[in-house]
Amino acid sequence: ELQSVILSGGSGTRLWPLSREQYPKQLLALVGDETMLQATAGRLAGFSGRLPVASAPIVVCNEEYRFVTAEQLRSTGRASRSIVLEPVGRNTAPALTLAVLAAGEADPVLLVMPADHVMRDLAGFQQAIDAGIPAALDGAIVTFGIVPDHAETGYGYIRFGAERADGSKSIASFVEKPDAVTAQRYLDSGEYLWNSGLFMMKASTWLKAMDHLQPAMAKACAAAWAAGSRDADFLRVDKEAFLACPSDSIDYAIMEKLAGASELGIAGCVVPMSAGWSDVGAWDALWEIADKDASGNVARGDVLFEDSRNTLVYAQDRMVACVGLDDAVIVETPDAVLVARKDKTQNVKQIVAALKLAK
Ligand code: GDD
Ligand code: MG
Repeated sequence: ELQSVILSGGSGTRLWPLSREQYPKQLLALVGDETMLQATAGRLAGFSGRLPVASAPIVVCNEEYRFVTAEQLRSTGRASRSIVLEPVGRNTAPALTLAVLAAGEADPVLLVMPADHVMRDLAGFQQAIDAGIPAALDGAIVTFGIVPDHAETGYGYIRFGAERADGSKSIASFVEKPDAVTAQRYLDSGEYLWNSGLFMMKASTWLKAMDHLQPAMAKACAAAWAAGSRDADFLRVDKEAFLACPSDSIDYAIMEKLAGASELGIAGCVVPMSAGWSDVGAWDALWEIADKDASGNVARGDVLFEDSRNTLVYAQDRMVACVGLDDAVIVETPDAVLVARKDKTQNVKQIVAALKLAK
């Protein structure tokens, strides 16, 4: 069985003022009618690949968001198999470990998905997922690679090696978030793919990797799970035990270490994915993937453009009119308005940091 796991823990500070602490990016409908969480939950609908798909995903989120999360899944008619609640964030390696513990004894193949990505080409997505299944069944940890087009420093870089018998490529090295000079070198070499942030592996493969490479984390997760409680809607873990868990991401904690741990017998491999992927890191990325009018403008809400080009406007509460504006981003909400040059929207996180300090 193919069991999807949705990691829904991020905050998305670069999409302020729409994303807030109370309403992180994955709970917003930034593209289309569905929120990113809802779209993620539906991403395997109609999948007809090498494995049958489990009826519903396992979702891992902070307990603060339990009601919105449950309600958003319910309202699409996609119940979640389980919603695992974290009392605090310990990053993705512990979050995935809790999902594996929630999956139980059956040892399904897990498809691990971030809740805050966009895939414009569902068929391309499902094709890549299907292509990764043989390697996952064979005991590998499978990543999905994107052909890079700039020296992004916020991503993982995968140097691909020889083609494996199952059609995937082995991972020669994995480097998470390299500095700008290194990222440029990787881009120029043509030997690297971006890590899309999706992973696939058998549940037992993940636990084995954690036991060997991150034993303290594995123990803390097991203890937090064992001392947790279950009710009809939510799976809770023990706060004190989970607080003691080291915090780290799948990428640093496992993926970077895998190639050097051949004694483990767990291969890392990568399947190229062409799926209109975007992690919607900031407003400029949203403009990139959104449907535009003939002048390249994107509008949501009550918006008027006059002599304006390549501008994105999200108006929540009031009408916004733009005259003679190029390459701008305007996001209007009842209590805050962002006006930015589109090529500077990465820096919105500085505003959020300043606001936090001022609080
Ligand atoms: N439940 C839970 N708990 N989810 C979490 C937590 C946590 O503590 N921390 C992060 N997440 C979720 C986020 O909501 C997001 O959906 C996903 O896990 C990945 O976390 P990010 O914090 O967004 O990671 P990143 O963007 O810096 O890097 C990852 O994604 C890149 C592609 O977007 C890495 O996998 C990179 O290698 C990759 O290139
Ligand atoms: Mg991310």
